[in-house]
Order: sequence, then structure tokens, then C-alpha cells
Amino acid sequence: MKIALAPMEGVCDVHLRQVLTAMGGFDYCVTEFIRVSSMLLPEKVFYRDCPELKVGAKTASGVPVHLQLLGSEPTLMAENAARAAELGAPVIDLNFGCPSKCVNKSAGGSYLLQFPEQLFSIVDAVRKAVPAAVPVTAKMRLGFADKSLAIENALALEAGGASWLTVHGRTKLEGYRPPAHWHWIGRINDAVSIPVVANGEIWTKADALACQAESGCERIMLGRGALACPDLASVIKSESAEVMPWSDVKHVFIRYCDLIENTGLPVQVAGRLKQWLAFLQKSYAEAGALLMEVKTLKCPNKISRRVLQS
Ligand SMILES: Cc1cc2nc3c(=O)[nH]c(=O)nc-3n(C[C@H](O)[C@H](O)[C@H](O)COP(=O)(O)O)c2cc1C
Repeated sequence: MKIALAPMEGVCDVHLRQVLTAMGGFDYCVTEFIRVSSMLLPEKVFYRDCPELKVGAKTASGVPVHLQLLGSEPTLMAENAARAAELGAPVIDLNFGCPSKCVNKSAGGSYLLQFPEQLFSIVDAVRKAVPAAVPVTAKMRLGFADKSLAIENALALEAGGASWLTVHGRTKLEGYRPPAHWHWIGRINDAVSIPVVANGEIWTKADALACQAESGCERIMLGRGALACPDLASVIKSESAEVMPWSDVKHVFIRYCDLIENTGLPVQVAGRLKQWLAFLQKSYAEAGALLMEVKTLKCPNKISRRVLQS
């Protein structure tokens, strides 16, 4: 079984990747998307969004970091993918799932799921530009407004040369509304001959097993479930179904506080801490109670002190 940590823009940055992959269970993680819109991006953009490129493209615990690009113009995507590979990205992942309005206005992300031939052109161009040893992969949703092109899109991505597909089991229109349609991921898995990674609504070990059974995919990707329950990947791979108690999770949270302490304005750092508490409250009532208490605090140190005392 392989378990990936999902790309999550604005949330799962280098620091959270470090903290979460240190919990064990993850085979790889994926950067937040790097937007390709009009030019070959300067190296500093790749290093900013994937600082791990400077240390062998692995997190501190040795988990490979795949680099994700989002864009719609094949030549530009190819140029930028080649640059990322030159800088050491071990895998180039292409984003065909982002539902964001501004991304879709510039014809990227899930918008492209309406045009299978364009998906093919992008993957094909990127595949041809990147050394054969570097896999090119794609992350898709089940469709834009409906699922009618789900299989066609997956086949186009495979024909373009994707080494594997990650499928988030919802359309753009379905947003993040449960359920994720794992049986639809299974239909795609049956239609293509490359591996499929199933993604969406895996919050517990039982969800992971149900998703694997329903989709037929051995490989899974965890997004918000890993934010809510930091040792979820490790629990899924272990004999036990017990996740860590809050008394341990709070120390994981403090590790994150220490890592991000000086990475921005105090109010921004405080915002990141509250954001993670908001995800943690899904699994830990303690995090919800703390979030209420620290809601108005703008000083990261005060937040971390309060969490430590809990
Ligand atoms: C805050 C947030 C940011 C996301 N950013 C990205 C991204 O940069 N690239 C991407 O492919 N998917 C992104 N996603 C989608 C996730 O990778 C994943 O497909 C989705 O959350 C469903 O999985 P989950 O139910 O396990 O969270 C994002 C999701 C969230 C919640």
C-alpha cells in the first residue's frame, strides 16, 4: 500500500509537510501548486514553494516531495516542468483539479476537464520535455460540471504519458461536499492500465479500507484527514486503529509552532496556527475548545503557550 500526503495550497507548506511526514506512514508528498501562466518561472519560485529541492527533494524524515504545476499552455508547462526536473524534482505532478474561480478563469485546474484533447496535449508536451527517469503524473477530479468525461479524461492523461493518476472523487461542481464517489474512482481504475491513487473523504482507517475496497485502488492520498489526524497514515498502515491522544498531538502542534515562528508577520503565523487548529478540531474536541480561546490572539507565542498548557 502506498499513502501520499495531498497538495494543499495555503495549508500544506514545507513546514507542515515536515511535521506530518515525520509522523510516519507517508510514501511521498506533493507541493502546493505552482502556477504557470506566462513565462519560464525563475528558480527562486521553485525554491520558494519547494525548499526541499535544496536538500535532495525530501522532507527531513526522508519522504520524497513531488512538485506540482498548474497551467494550461502545453509549451509553457513543458518548459517549466523541465526546469523543475533540472532543479531536482523527482516527480512532476500536473493539477487538473483545482476548483478556484481565478484559476479557472485563466483556463487551468478543473476547467480543463471539459477538454480531454487539451489534457492530452499538456501531459504529452511535459512528458516529452522531462527526462525519462522523472515520472510525470496527473491529479484530476471526476469532471467539471458532471462526470460524463471522467473516463475519457483519464484515458487522455494516460495516452499523454502520465505514469499514474490521482483521482479526487468529486466534480468541480461538487466542490468538497461529501460524499467522494469512490466507486467512480474504481471505474477509472478499471479503464486505465496505469496505477490510480484514490483521494477524497478519507478521515479514518475505516474510511481508508472502505475507499480501497470500493475503488479497487491500493494507493490512496490523504488531504484534510491528515490535517485532522496527524498520525492517520501511520495508523492506516499499522495493526492498530487507535490514533494519537490529544496529549501527544499537542506536542506535534508545538513542533509546527516552533518551525513557523519566524516565517512571516506574527499575525500571519498566528493565522496559520488557528487554521491548523480548525482542521484538528474535526478529530479532537480539545482543538476546537482551544480555537475558541485563541480566536482573537494575534501573537503566535501566546497561542503555542496556551496549547502547551492544555
Ligand atoms: C485548503 C486546500 C488546498 C488545496 N490545494 C490543492 C493544490 O494545491 N493542488 C491540488 O492538486 N489539490 C489541492 N487541494 C485538493 C486536495 O489535494 C484533495 O484532493 C482534496 O482535499 C480531497 O481530499 P481530502 O478529502 O482527503 O481532503 C486542496 C484542498 C484543500 C482543502
